[in-house]
Amino acid sequence: MKYNKNFKTIQDIKHLQGVRVLLRLDLNVPIQNGKVVDPFRITKAIPTISYLTKRGAKVIILSHKTEEGGSLAPVAEYLNHNGCKAVFVDAYKNARSHINTMVDGGIILLENLRSNPGEEENSTSFAKELASLGDIYVNDAFGVSHRAHASVCAITKFIPSYAGLLFADEVQNLATAFDPQRPFVFVLGGAKFDTKLPLIEKFMKSADHVFVGGALANNFFKEMGYEIGASMVSPENFNLKRYFKDAKLMLPVDLVVKRGSENIVIDNKEVQPGDVILDAGPKALADLKKVIFNARYVLWNGPLGNYEHGYKQPTINLAEMISMSGAMSIVGGGDTLAAIAELGTADKFSFISTAGGAMLDFLANETLPGIDALVESES
Ligand code: ADP
Ligand code: 3PG
Ligand code: MG
Repeated sequence: MKYNKNFKTIQDIKHLQGVRVLLRLDLNVPIQNGKVVDPFRITKAIPTISYLTKRGAKVIILSHKTEEGGSLAPVAEYLNHNGCKAVFVDAYKNARSHINTMVDGGIILLENLRSNPGEEENSTSFAKELASLGDIYVNDAFGVSHRAHASVCAITKFIPSYAGLLFADEVQNLATAFDPQRPFVFVLGGAKFDTKLPLIEKFMKSADHVFVGGALANNFFKEMGYEIGASMVSPENFNLKRYFKDAKLMLPVDLVVKRGSENIVIDNKEVQPGDVILDAGPKALADLKKVIFNARYVLWNGPLGNYEHGYKQPTINLAEMISMSGAMSIVGGGDTLAAIAELGTADKFSFISTAGGAMLDFLANETLPGIDALVESES
């Protein structure tokens, strides 16, 4: 097992009064018409911000937006409307003069890190420049810690480095999947077969049941020689034959399919050319219910259907089953959370990850570049 949590956290820092903390957060949240539409990641970052400011640190927040030219200005506005007074600095060249005038307990949010080419190159010179802006570095950006970028990895070579509270929480909770209580059920849905295949490989070894749904199931059906019509499928062949006879593997036995203009429910062997598989059927949900109500540990990522277009009831039913099962439940995935948003998910599961790709990579590899960087740094 590669899992290693030998990194220091902010709770190991004795003295924070007046200390300039470079706090890397993942504030890469959905923004529409200049407004934050889902503040989940921001809300989860607040405990670390408060921990630092209450102890008199000067907090300099570093974050990214995926979109080229994307701005964090709406995030600054959200923070300011929600009791977290932050000064937004829209260009790195102006950072130092703002930092020099900060008061203890003050907060600055710097613009999208990725406007600097050195960030995504994990550039030593950019990391040094960043490090020179603060006294210590804190990584509370678990959601981007699968990226070897300057503000995640290279920076830890030049400044004492620690994990934040959310980062430590993510590592600790997701790592329960490496030594789970049993029976352990792994439910994997969604799309992007190539990014999710490593999880199937890993948990077919350690879980008691592995249910593969969503568009991912179509790759299994295709390789089993079933008709999948015009359904979404990854074009590659993933040599899935090795799993067909394994009793752990569960696939949706029935499906919601669009045939012409109608939605029908049929068994997985009854798909016709031209049909489009869009969701799991009631028998599939009954199969899931049996194993989930018997489980002591459930790990779930990925919706069962094309929820953005209304095919979401089975995913909501699955979420309800998991939350009512009494099993320890670990859930994550941007689309998974979006699909079940109306449930008010926060207290329904044992743990909800803020991460997308980072959660998948951590579960598959038991570590991330950002974790290794903290473990290796000498703070
Ligand atoms: P997450 O972000 O939770 O990890 P993914 O990004 O892997 O999930 O997958 C979510 C996407 O999968 C959504 O766009 C959803 O519509 C799609 N999807 C799930 N099942 C199907 C299906 N049967 N046909 C088409 N798209 C599907
Ligand atoms: C995410 O949304 O998964 C993280 O913020 C990482 O974003 P990225 O895929 O643009 O690196
Ligand atoms: Mg997604």
